[in-house]
Formats: sequence, structure tokens, C-alpha cells
Amino acid sequence: MSTSTSSDYLIRAIRPDDWPRVKQLRLDALRDPSAGLAFLETYEEAEARADVFWQDRAVGSGEGSTAARQFIAETPDGTWAGSVTVLIEEAGTKDWAGLAVECRQGHVVGVFVRPEHRGNGLIKALLDAGVEWARQRGVERVRLLVHEDNERAQGAYRKAGFVPSGVVVPFVRDTGQNELEFVLQGPS
Ligand SMILES: CC(C)(COP(=O)(O)OP(=O)(O)OC[C@H]1O[C@@H](n2cnc3c(N)ncnc32)[C@H](O)[C@@H]1OP(=O)(O)O)[C@@H](O)C(=O)NCCC(=O)NCCS
Repeated sequence: MSTSTSSDYLIRAIRPDDWPRVKQLRLDALRDPSAGLAFLETYEEAEARADVFWQDRAVGSGEGSTAARQFIAETPDGTWAGSVTVLIEEAGTKDWAGLAVECRQGHVVGVFVRPEHRGNGLIKALLDAGVEWARQRGVERVRLLVHEDNERAQGAYRKAGFVPSGVVVPFVRDTGQNELEFVLQGPS
């Protein structure tokens, strides 16, 4: 556990010229021991992507985008300690699992904090930044999906105000396990 506190980080949206660091943080996340539960792509899949993929992501989830936004936490020495991304899902569309989206909502994905920065409140600060942005975009709810066995992530989400909605979807890797939808409690 780090001795840093969440106030020691600068939390900001990514910018187009950040794309090499967006790629590196993602690759590092995909090397995490929990990556098989936490993320839907593999290290090999991400590593094989062309630079243009990361360049597009840094624009499409960057500070100018209204459809998605990736927030990173930077230490005073410039290390990227963690990240969350919020996607805006529009009413009337279907989500990746084929379920109807009934209202404009934020969907938190790509949640990762480097091990040495865990347990210090940083994840809540990142989630708060993402939720605030989603609210500015007029969402009626904010949700995320978490693997049923990812108890640490579930603990972090509960501390940030998310609770299970009761919606359960099969885990994409066809392991017979499920992901649980958590939704932010209280008014959006
Ligand atoms: C998920 C993640 C961002 C959470 O950040 P974090 O700094 O580790 O979270 P915190 O330590 O603040 O909160 C986790 C809580 O769950 C608790 N917890 C940890 N392991 C647990 C377990 N096995 N069972 C139950 N609770 C557990 C912790 O004690 C803590 O609660 P506490 O502060 O009341 O003690 C981080 O662990 C991470 O990046 N993990 C790898 C990637 C990942 O799983 N991403 C989420 C994908 S949905």
C-alpha cells in the first residue's frame, strides 16, 4: 500500500498526445494478476493493436469527446497511477451484451489502479471524477459491471457508493461465471 493520499494526484482527462501512455497503462493493467477477471481483452490482443488504435482512443475518450472520457491520476513525478473510463450510453440503444439501454447512462469501464497506489482512496477519487463528468453529460444513472469473484473491486465500488442492481450477465469468457451490474446509489 502506498503512503500517498488521493490529494497527492492530479486527476485529468487524457489528451490526444497521451496515446503512448494510454497504451502503456492498458498493457500494464492487462499484466495484473486479476486481469483475467477484470478486463475483457488479453494482453496479446492489446499489444497487437496498431498505433492508430491508441491514437483514436486518446481522441475518442479524450478531453474533447462527449461520448466517452478517460480519466487518469498522475503523481507529482508524472507517473500514471490509475485510470477509469466512462462511456455514455444513449436511451434506445443496446449495450454490448444486447440489453436495452432505457435511459441515458454512464458506464464505467477500464478501472485500474497500480498495485502500489491501492488502498489509499485514489480509486474513489477517480470514480468521483468520472461520475461528475457523466452527470454533466445529463445521465440518469451510472453503472458498471464487475466479475462475481472480483471481491476487491466490489469492495472499492461499494465504498464509492455503488450497489448491486440485481442485473447479472454471463461473463464474456464463457467460463460459466457472471458479471454483476453495480449502479450508483442516490440521485444522479
Ligand atoms: C479494483 C481496484 C481499482 C480497486 O482499487 P483499490 O485501491 O484496490 O481499492 P480499495 O483498497 O480502496 O478498496 C477495496 C476494498 O475491498 C476490500 N477487499 C479487498 N480484497 C477483498 C476481498 N478478497 N474480499 C472482500 N473485500 C476485499 C478492501 O479491504 C477494501 O475495503 P476497505 O478499505 O474497507 O478495507 C484495484 O484493486 C485494481 O486496479 N485491481 C485490478 C484491476 C481490477 O480489478 N479492476 C476492476 C475491474 S471491474
